[in-house]
Amino acid sequence: MKILRFTDLCAQGKVTGQRVFIRADLNVPQDDAGNITEDTRIRASVPCIRLALESGAAVMVTSHLGRPTEGQFKPEDSLAPVAKRLGELLGREVPLVANWVDGVQVQTGQVVLLENCRLNKGEKKNDEALSRKLAALTDIYVNDAFGTAHRAEATTYGIAQFAKIACAGPLLAAEIDAITKALAQPKRPLVAIVAGSKVSTKLTILKSLADKVDQLIVGGGIANTFMLASGLKIGKSLAEPDLLDEAKAVIEAMRARGAGVPIPVDVVTAKTFAADAAATIKAANEVADDDLILDIGPKTAELLAAQLREAGTIVWNGPVGVFEFDAFANGTKVIAQAIAESKAFSIAGGGDTLAAIAKYGIEDKVGYISTGGGAFLEVLEGKKLPAFEILEKRAA
Ligand code: 3PG
Repeated sequence: MKILRFTDLCAQGKVTGQRVFIRADLNVPQDDAGNITEDTRIRASVPCIRLALESGAAVMVTSHLGRPTEGQFKPEDSLAPVAKRLGELLGREVPLVANWVDGVQVQTGQVVLLENCRLNKGEKKNDEALSRKLAALTDIYVNDAFGTAHRAEATTYGIAQFAKIACAGPLLAAEIDAITKALAQPKRPLVAIVAGSKVSTKLTILKSLADKVDQLIVGGGIANTFMLASGLKIGKSLAEPDLLDEAKAVIEAMRARGAGVPIPVDVVTAKTFAADAAATIKAANEVADDDLILDIGPKTAELLAAQLREAGTIVWNGPVGVFEFDAFANGTKVIAQAIAESKAFSIAGGGDTLAAIAKYGIEDKVGYISTGGGAFLEVLEGKKLPAFEILEKRAA
């Protein structure tokens, strides 16, 4: 992928004295009182901002937060908590600027945070007039918002069309480099774990990966549908019987290439969906009509762990059981530990996956942890994301 990189512009001295507009993804979770509960995305955005400051630029940073109504400011939509946290991480005050579309005062060596860009009318629709105004604010536009790279909005797409220079920030570039390394030039065997409640929400990903990976490990409700497709009973577990043919087609496509979808040999069941429900380990062919499958069983977990330890590359999206409940967490824990122990290059993404990584403390042992939720999934689907598409056009 040929795109202009901000790090190269900095190394070439082309950023000194320039106005730099950085689109970051600072969309972080907050509690009811507005406190930031998880700041990975803010920390991941710091290197780009630091680089711009160290290169002698006048730096404007913006992001969306949530999905506010354009033109209607509400205090809970403000980036104020983000400005505070960013200031702590940068070790300097980060002023928050409201109503900034028509002009921003910022000096060389200064950084300001521009209030929630989704408050600007026309942002979501990638309005051309707004995009041109945004482009006029800056000499260099830097997209460093991988988490929002699947959206064609004024700050992620339109501004890149009209800015004098449009380039990828280090986070955006690192994300796409890591995913390309995992999927385009993988060290084999390439093993993907795709788990989640519904086949329907991840069918495109399953189909896309079925062409590429050597083992496609499915988990959660997705695994239940695949168990059904393999002729196993799943009791009253979550599944999508109308997608059995699609599941069978994925299994067949994999088999035809000499690859496989490992179907659980044992499972952990309960009679109710509750943290304190009694957990019973059963062979996969002994699931009763009133059983709920809430995790893979220990034999299955060990078989999958062995494959992961031998893998050359691992792509992980989704926990394989209800890991929030301790009695049904073993499968996800064993998988997480196997990934941590494996010599494979591993890449993980998606909210639940990051929560599992944090729970088992393996952050340092995963090759690359993506900041993308929807964006990560769309790359796995094989889609070209709008943010990359426009940066490539601009670099042509
Ligand atoms: C995310 O949280 O996945 C990104 O920040 C994108 O947010 P959006 O789904 O509201 O566009």
